[in-house]
Amino acid sequence: GPARSPLAPVSLRCRDAAPGTGNGAWSWETPWTPPSLPRNIPSSDFSWIPQGRPDLGDPPCRPFASYGSALHIALPQAPRAGQLLTLLIDYEAGEGPGVCWLSPEQTAGKQKPYMYTQGQAVLNRSFFPCFDTPSVKFTYSATVKVPEGFTAVMSATTWEKQKDNTFVFKMSQPIPSYLIALVVGDIVSADVGPRSRVWAEPCLIEAAKKEYDGVIEEFLVVGEKLFGPYVWGRYDILFMPPSFPFGGMENPCLTFVTPCLLAGDRSLVDVIIHEISHSWFGNLVTNATWGEFWLNEGFTMYAQRRISTEVYGLPYTCLEAATGRALLRQHMDATGEEHPLNKLRVVIEPGVNPDDTYNETPYEKGYCFVSYLAHLVGNQSKFDAFLQAYVNRFKFQSITADDTLGFFLEYFPELKEKGVDSIPGFEFDRWLNTPGWPPYLPDLSPGQQLMRPADELAELWAADGLNMEAIEAVDITGWRTYQLVYFLDQVLQKSPLPEGNVKRLSKMYPKISKAQNAELRLRWCQIVLKNNLEAEYSKVKDFLHSQGKQKYTLPLYRAMWGGSEATRALAMETFSATAPQLHVNVQNYVKKILGLVGAEA
Ligand code: BES
Ligand code: ZN
Repeated sequence: GPARSPLAPVSLRCRDAAPGTGNGAWSWETPWTPPSLPRNIPSSDFSWIPQGRPDLGDPPCRPFASYGSALHIALPQAPRAGQLLTLLIDYEAGEGPGVCWLSPEQTAGKQKPYMYTQGQAVLNRSFFPCFDTPSVKFTYSATVKVPEGFTAVMSATTWEKQKDNTFVFKMSQPIPSYLIALVVGDIVSADVGPRSRVWAEPCLIEAAKKEYDGVIEEFLVVGEKLFGPYVWGRYDILFMPPSFPFGGMENPCLTFVTPCLLAGDRSLVDVIIHEISHSWFGNLVTNATWGEFWLNEGFTMYAQRRISTEVYGLPYTCLEAATGRALLRQHMDATGEEHPLNKLRVVIEPGVNPDDTYNETPYEKGYCFVSYLAHLVGNQSKFDAFLQAYVNRFKFQSITADDTLGFFLEYFPELKEKGVDSIPGFEFDRWLNTPGWPPYLPDLSPGQQLMRPADELAELWAADGLNMEAIEAVDITGWRTYQLVYFLDQVLQKSPLPEGNVKRLSKMYPKISKAQNAELRLRWCQIVLKNNLEAEYSKVKDFLHSQGKQKYTLPLYRAMWGGSEATRALAMETFSATAPQLHVNVQNYVKKILGLVGAEA
């Protein structure tokens, strides 16, 4: 059966949180089970605090990567089986990668400081002592006192403001440690649906409401129709400061998103659909280890595209999936297909930070594998029913791919009988354990009507002597953002273009070269760098100054560092100006790219 929490439920209580550093006490009420670890969980994933306190017991603390130590607690006497234990830990959380303290200048409003936490994958061990593994689930409650003029929000099912700026939170469903999240800042909210509101700094709230007013509920309703009840109560969205390192983070009840999503035209709403999809895949059914992260992200990509298909139709969804496939292609080209991280099941040695294994494979190869399972079933509504049964079977649990695939074969006995798990070239074992390009790709041809014009236009721009007549005959004014993104990915793939072409392209399409949309800006900057378009290097700098999302930041630094002397200088200059506002993890990854000391070991 699935890995079960050895120590659930756990209730956490925090007192006396103060700005600058937090301090408080957590209490565990733990029905004691003899100490056995869930399968495959390195013991180093348990019980970490930010700074080791060697007085806490024997054996002494062990180091984890660049931060954190194990907290060992010797019990005064051996507990009886089934005995209830309450453990009170006094601690302070200050410096540590999980808790980010922003100065007023690092916020959108530039008036007040801001703090946020980011738990995934294993950063919450620097926020509070916990069993910092996705295989353990527990409920929590928290009391957070903040200074006058600040609001606290958490990933919790209930939320109550008491006197003295004190907020009380309760998460009544069991969740893994990485989904506990807290923000304290000058934030306000506005309703955008019957169970949804947006949170943002006051200067952004208008734009935030406008972006998603009236659209969230439909995604939730379609999600429930496809995958079963939405168990988390509310679905709220919090727009983070620009340095937030992710597009979105699926903290239950309260998704955190980058302010880059405020495109003004809802064009980046796929990120919201993605995070909503985690409400079933990831947050209800959770990967038991970070080595099987594809169970979270691959199933979520599939669910996201199912919802998108229902709401926006197949052509658009295939177009979006094609841009995902292009990212997988770029990743595998950069690392080599045979790289050990290009497997769905990754071996993460104890002491290795799972975040260091992050890449496109669990997302897009995972999506292909789930699509392959659907292809084996051969009927969309039967496969949808399977997904719903899967969620229902494993909800509130943490599982491995063996559980998933075992349940698949059990649910479709006729497929099991046919031996679909061992079709040569498509063995389930090969999907999981062999690196490389996915052996099966879902058919994206329904997106051709949107992709073909973009393919053809990219072809024209890559030619030696530009056929301006043909180019001018193509009207891109009505193209959607993802059509432009797809076009730019094609141009990037063909780059460097013949001398002068990109300069002309830039003049011809200010809609692209002067875009404010972050996905377009990223691609444009990549094209500028790959084509050494020095006149527009300042756009790269401006974009990197404006936000700190990891998936935008790292590719641009890689491109700059792999380019000319001029782009290397640009990288150094930009990094020294922006480093303080980047998330510490992103800072370290950039340092690694630039060969600077202090890079993560
Ligand atoms: N859970 C991830 C973000 C994450 C992954 C944080 C690993 C920390 C470690 C989130 O759901 C995600 O995948 N976000 C994507 C959205 C995209 C795939 C639509 C992002 O941030 O780009
Ligand atoms: Zn995700």
